[in-house]
Amino acid sequence: MSQDVPSPLLRRLEQAARSAGRKAYAPYSKFRVGAAVLTGSGRIFSGCNVENASYGLCNCAERSAIFAAVTAGERRITAVAVHTPTAAPTMPCGACRQVIHEFGPKALIVALGNGRARVETRLDALLPHAFGPKDLK
Ligand code: THU
Repeated sequence: MSQDVPSPLLRRLEQAARSAGRKAYAPYSKFRVGAAVLTGSGRIFSGCNVENASYGLCNCAERSAIFAAVTAGERRITAVAVHTPTAAPTMPCGACRQVIHEFGPKALIVALGNGRARVETRLDALLPHAFGPKDLK
């Protein structure tokens, strides 16, 4: 599955996710998340979760990374790495799955925790039968 992304690039993507998590603004949940996306042009963009005193306005790390990529002109996401400070990796939330679908319906998803465990899957396995751009045609 991860074979479609050359392994040095995948390592860089994972490292970018870990390092973005160190910038997380998570004073309420204390759950610091880092994410990084690989774009169709081969660039890496990272993001962290940014919380707010008005809790409903918290933004996830995955969406921070995607919005940075789109702001730079990117339109295609081929892989997403997410790091959470947990023993077992955790997967992107439902809202982030939907946002990833917009730009990477088959993106490789790599979830990492603090240990050696990693989960690799694809967006279409996490969000089957997705609603997306095609439904508005
Ligand atoms: N969070 C993420 O950044 N990504 C996810 O996929 C799940 C949750 C953040 C949102 C909030 O700041 C904190 O984790 C606890 O939910």
